[in-house]
Amino acid sequence: MRSIKVSEAEQKLVSKLIFNTVVPRPIAWITTVSAGGVVNLAPFSFYNAITTKPPLILVSIGKRKDGSLKDTGRNVRETGEFVVNVVSREFLEVMHESGRDFPPDVSEVEALGLEVEDSLLVKPPRIKGVPAALECKVREILELGSTPMDVVVGEVVAVHYLEELLETQKGIVGRLGGKRYIIVEDEVDLAD
Ligand SMILES: Cc1cc2nc3c(=O)[nH]c(=O)nc-3n(C[C@H](O)[C@H](O)[C@H](O)COP(=O)(O)O)c2cc1C
Repeated sequence: MRSIKVSEAEQKLVSKLIFNTVVPRPIAWITTVSAGGVVNLAPFSFYNAITTKPPLILVSIGKRKDGSLKDTGRNVRETGEFVVNVVSREFLEVMHESGRDFPPDVSEVEALGLEVEDSLLVKPPRIKGVPAALECKVREILELGSTPMDVVVGEVVAVHYLEELLETQKGIVGRLGGKRYIIVEDEVDLAD
């Protein structure tokens, strides 16, 4: 087993270690709407729940290589709203595709042939057919890191879900290192 001190290691290795040790990560497949009305869709795996009352989630949105904001980051800052779509097996490939760098005026939803449904309380729609979707309003944005990244704290204000998701999460997709994913299959229930 190797041991390193982060302060002495190359950044490339440090990033690789985070991507490959903090696993599996849940995936927030986020829909936002630009000020001009374009529906944007992109996946984010630096994502998790942080509190339940109120229900707060956190997602970490980096910048592009040229330092500009990603469309999701820009839309979230401009509109204060987003929807987290939960990814199931049938959406794995298209979710991965939606992580490519599409121009801001191109809607990934349209380009990838996805259908959407209106949200209850926010403008961004949810993706039709996903097992759950969380409508969120931005509570706070923290700029962390030397790049820096936008760490967005969102309050979940409405939830759409399939009843069966409360019994089993089979088929839900998570992120591993590299371009690898995991699909929940082998659940272990330790209930008495
Ligand atoms: C599964 C997956 C997870 C990702 N997680 C993140 C993440 O947590 N933070 C981030 O900044 N980018 C992440 N990305 C990259 C963004 O999805 C990518 O930069 C995308 O082009 C951003 O799109 P946008 O400009 O439409 O917001 C991820 C990509 C994939 C495929």
